[in-house]
Amino acid sequence: MNTYNRFPIVLRKGRGMKVWSADGKEYLDFVGGVAVNILGHCHPKVVVAIQKQAQRLLHVSNYYYIEPQIKLAKLLVTRSFADKIFFCNSGAEANEAAIKLARKYSKEQVSPERFEIITAKNSFHGRTLATLTATGQEKFQKGFEPLVPGFKYVPFNDIDSLSKAITKETCAIMLEPIQGEGGVKVPDPNYLKEVREICNEHNILLILDEVQTGMGRTGKLFAYEHFGIVPDIMTIAKGLGGGVPIGAMLALDKVASAFQPGNHATTFGGNPLVCTAALATVETLLEDGFILDQCNRMGNYLRERLEQLKEEFQSLIIEIRGKGLLLGMELTRDGDPIVKACLEKGVLINCTAGNVLRFMPPLIVQQRDIDRLIDILEEVFARI
Ligand SMILES: Cc1ncc(COP(=O)(O)O)c(C=O)c1O
Repeated sequence: MNTYNRFPIVLRKGRGMKVWSADGKEYLDFVGGVAVNILGHCHPKVVVAIQKQAQRLLHVSNYYYIEPQIKLAKLLVTRSFADKIFFCNSGAEANEAAIKLARKYSKEQVSPERFEIITAKNSFHGRTLATLTATGQEKFQKGFEPLVPGFKYVPFNDIDSLSKAITKETCAIMLEPIQGEGGVKVPDPNYLKEVREICNEHNILLILDEVQTGMGRTGKLFAYEHFGIVPDIMTIAKGLGGGVPIGAMLALDKVASAFQPGNHATTFGGNPLVCTAALATVETLLEDGFILDQCNRMGNYLRERLEQLKEEFQSLIIEIRGKGLLLGMELTRDGDPIVKACLEKGVLINCTAGNVLRFMPPLIVQQRDIDRLIDILEEVFARI
């Protein structure tokens, strides 16, 4: 269906930071499947793990225990605040699961009046009806009304508005630690701490949507680690599978216990193939901390180089922001022609929120890749 504004190229092959189109042209990839390919394209450890698993067992139902799912669950739970995990197939599904869990837990364990979830304006949580409603942007919701009841929006990074929005019906606050699709918006250092305090004070759940920020993207395994807090529920997807579709919803035991057999399920969620790929991805990511270090070093380097461009093109560039390898460059004009010009010159970049160029390369990006990107951006900026 006509759901994407596609660029006129067919991508056929990928290795590391590079992809090649069907007509043989090479591209340097700073989109990374929209923050998915954290280890680059076709990382050998992930490819071999998938090949072996494909010969062993592709799919069985969650009626039975699944070995790679158990190993992946253990690894993610050990490395996060959470005690329990539910596997699904995408970010939106992970958020759906979080919304359902938050409602059920709050109604049963806190107060039957509680159902409402407060989210942020300019947020993005997915395209299913409930997650579309959670998404605080009318442009995505238009035409799909009536939306799901029980959501309310407040400005991001505004603690007073959040405080005032809480009522006896509020069951959870759901936020991205850094807004991705909304234009790479980083909150003040204390914002999430204050949100956490408000949640504690009112016995409200904090749901962090780490679908984009999780899995090392910001230089820590999960972005909440930058802010000195832990959530009650967290969702992840994108980078988790290193390229295969997998999402997950993690929670504290106390909250997770609201789900009983039959309350929530998915046929494909956490199947042997995707869990094997995700396990290889996460193990490689965490191996001696090398890739997270690289993400931090290269994130700083990319940021420095983007700041230099800002000095050079002051009337074009408003601000550089982000963390690790989730960086945004806000422009004074529409970013699409710049994305197109970069594509023609062999570099894939993304534009979000109309005028924010977004850079989310694989975490294995090297200095020479960044230098090439900057040279091309410089050429393109000089001509517009
Ligand atoms: C923060 C956030 N949440 C949820 C989603 C939805 O994920 P998916 O497209 O896998 O459903 C996205 C996708 O961009 C996202 O950035």
